[in-house]
Amino acid sequence: MVGWLCEQTSSLSVCGVGQSSLCTQMSLTRLFTTPIFYVNGTPHIGHAYSVVLADFYARASRLRTARPTLSQLPSTVRFASGTDEHGFKVARAASALNIAPRALCDQVSRSFRDTFARLDVVPDDFVRTTESRHALVVAAMWRRLERRGLISLSIYSGWYCVSDEAFVPDDAVVTGPDPADPTRSCTVSRESGNVVERIDEPTYMFDMARLRDSVRQWLLSTPSPVRPLERLNEVLAMLDSPAASLPLSVSRPRARVGWGIEVPRNPEHTIYVWLDALCNYLTVLSHDTAAIVAALDDDSNDLSSLGWPPTLQVLGKDILRFHAVYWPSFLLAAGIRPPAELLVHAFWTTASGDKVSKSRGNAPRTLNELLGEYEADALRYFLLRHGGLANDSEFSETLLAQCRTAELVDRLGNLLSRLTGASMLPLQRWPASVQSNDGAVVDAAARTAFADVMAAVDARRSGIALESISTLLRTVNTFVAERQPWTLARDGMERASVLRAALHGLRVGLVLLQPAMPTTCARALDHLNVQHCQWSEAAVLDTPVAADTPFAAAAAPILFPRTKK
Ligand code: MSP
Repeated sequence: MVGWLCEQTSSLSVCGVGQSSLCTQMSLTRLFTTPIFYVNGTPHIGHAYSVVLADFYARASRLRTARPTLSQLPSTVRFASGTDEHGFKVARAASALNIAPRALCDQVSRSFRDTFARLDVVPDDFVRTTESRHALVVAAMWRRLERRGLISLSIYSGWYCVSDEAFVPDDAVVTGPDPADPTRSCTVSRESGNVVERIDEPTYMFDMARLRDSVRQWLLSTPSPVRPLERLNEVLAMLDSPAASLPLSVSRPRARVGWGIEVPRNPEHTIYVWLDALCNYLTVLSHDTAAIVAALDDDSNDLSSLGWPPTLQVLGKDILRFHAVYWPSFLLAAGIRPPAELLVHAFWTTASGDKVSKSRGNAPRTLNELLGEYEADALRYFLLRHGGLANDSEFSETLLAQCRTAELVDRLGNLLSRLTGASMLPLQRWPASVQSNDGAVVDAAARTAFADVMAAVDARRSGIALESISTLLRTVNTFVAERQPWTLARDGMERASVLRAALHGLRVGLVLLQPAMPTTCARALDHLNVQHCQWSEAAVLDTPVAADTPFAAAAAPILFPRTKK
């Protein structure tokens, strides 16, 4: 079937560039991506934010694809991540360590992959840009752009920023403090503050100006493909700047940057690392690389039969220009639709407001160290609950620990152990449903939370989604505190009724929390002996748990021990 499905409304429509950007092709893969990570440092909390956000929305999408209106459509979610391994920056990091670039890449790529797995982020595909399958895709994309007359050999005389791996126009550099030694001044990129160097070399140029109007049209489509809206305005300003009318260099001489993918038919040049890196999103479309290359080699093939375009691409605000100007330019130039949605997040900062970063050496602790101290789910919850999209957020272990104690130890964990303890329910079973109004307040709160979470997920506001669930759990706690079931007769109907209502609220909260805290929710739902159900109103709100369903174990799991920080 040919058509497009709108995630928000579940409606069918025919849509092209400039129309509903949240539409994704029916019966095909829904692709969710993270940026791919530079292998010149160890994973820290900022990297974790990009992957956890993408993982959260991919998991939520998996839970929603079983909505009754969609159940007849075969729809799979594909979630991809990876490492960005080429370029001067990585080669320089390897030489500083006196090891071969390949050895550094193998080691750091593995560490990203393993650390993400500890965070419960296990992508369907993890691409490394040094893999031969990726080189085949990049070369095919290059040939396609060349066939369409958008790439030609020329000379680049100007600034280059190694930290950002970016060609920087003359009007975008300023004299500023040297980040390595602030007492000295040097020429830096105005946008990132990183040092630039002058280069003068033969280079292939991509005629980006030709795509300016098409990119603007894509950016201005409804709903906007760039979220949040603050970032859209930034991108529009970038598009209007003089730099956007200049050709973009898309190669470096091999003599200068040897650690890269060869330009097809000209081994004297390697492909610019951002064109190489952005093409990872094409590489992860399928494990059948030959099919991707064949599609790229066929100029009339827009890759939609392979599941293109991505449903959601998550990225940090520092790489906005590359994803919202360069990336759609390359794609539109190749006759391929740009992604449906770019979700751009802000930074985690130190208390003094500096971006947590490897180059500034100010990451409080590595991600692995944090994961040794805190549960992955506590970290995921904190990032999703308090991380910013438009505005930066401060990261500190004090804030993390406070959030964990208030919302996970005292509220969620406590509710599970309190409601299912043997003193409360000696038979360790779901109480029978009873005729009473006891459930009304909890049921109303559960319905509100369900609707609010669905809306917040559609609006990509993970913090609001988690706050709605937190409100539901607070209502359940208050209800239990007010009704004091422990004061009611042990085998009386009233006690059963109060506990059943409270357990229903807890179950709904856990079902809704699944994409944020998969392990915790699985443990708790398993203990309650209920299904980890999909996100349909019928399954979540209107399918009662059978009376007398026994709990799975003698004692409830301690979800978040109090003894930890
Ligand atoms: N390799 C490029 C991306 C290429 S995608 C085709 C890159 N890599 S990175 O390792 O530097 O950054 C990866 C992600 O981590 C980006 O989304 C970036 O914004 C994010 N973060 C790195 N530090 C961050 C914070 N302090 N806070 C939040 N996220 C930040 O860029």
